[in-house]
Amino acid sequence: MKIFIDSADLEEIKQAYAWGVCDGVTTNPSLMKKAVDKLVAKGEKLDIKEYITRLLDTARGTPVSLEVTEYSASAMIEQGKRLYDMFNNVAENVNIKVPVNPAFKNDDITHFDGLQAVCALSEQGIPVNCTLIFTPEQALLAAKAGAAYVSPFAGRIDDMLRKNAGMKFEKTDYFPAEGIKRDEVLLDDDGVVSGIDLVEQCVDILGLYEFGVEVIAASLRNPRQAREAALAGSHIATLPFGVIRDMLKHAKTFEGMELFTRDIVPEYVAMLK
Ligand code: G3P
Repeated sequence: MKIFIDSADLEEIKQAYAWGVCDGVTTNPSLMKKAVDKLVAKGEKLDIKEYITRLLDTARGTPVSLEVTEYSASAMIEQGKRLYDMFNNVAENVNIKVPVNPAFKNDDITHFDGLQAVCALSEQGIPVNCTLIFTPEQALLAAKAGAAYVSPFAGRIDDMLRKNAGMKFEKTDYFPAEGIKRDEVLLDDDGVVSGIDLVEQCVDILGLYEFGVEVIAASLRNPRQAREAALAGSHIATLPFGVIRDMLKHAKTFEGMELFTRDIVPEYVAMLK
């Protein structure tokens, strides 16, 4: 499984690449805002074009998703092309993130414009990461429209299932891939029992056909979910920096380090100076 970092924070991205575990970057408007707010809070002057250029350079030629902020098909296509033309020459690694359905509510006329933008941009050779996927059917349609990547949001499905069941939880709490029962009934959203189940169903369905699309398990909040995304056969998991860092932690690793350190023979260290 490839690992992308789900962040627009240059320091985090640099660190993840320095660890040698990063195969790409995903950003979205919320992550971009967080990174920009951090810069501004530090008193740094923001040049967004220069910032994105640095981000693309840092990713060393691996894919970076930049998201459109428009809603209509024509505006998303226009903005996607502009983003691609403006930045792809930096490191030839830009893909454009387009919501599968940019509507805010059920009767919004932009209901189908996401697919149209996915199709038009893909036909022009611009790789598209189709985002905000919450059903396997949305993933199937995005793949048919030509998306290079589809991004099912696992954690947000888990949030919804727990919220609807009136459960209290923290954002990073583990939610079992096999789902949770309440009063002997398995919680589900139209046949999806967990975020990881959503990822697995997307992988299974798209794997039956030859779309050449890759599934990016997104909205993952803890190491165990990253493990389960890998077990589900997700091509890619996009992980916040904190999750990548937490994947390195184990009490016995810490304890082992302490014990080994206690036993170090001074001559051994001296020899290596
Ligand atoms: O990649 C999507 C991701 O940024 C959303 O994550 O934790 O806000 O649901 P989250």
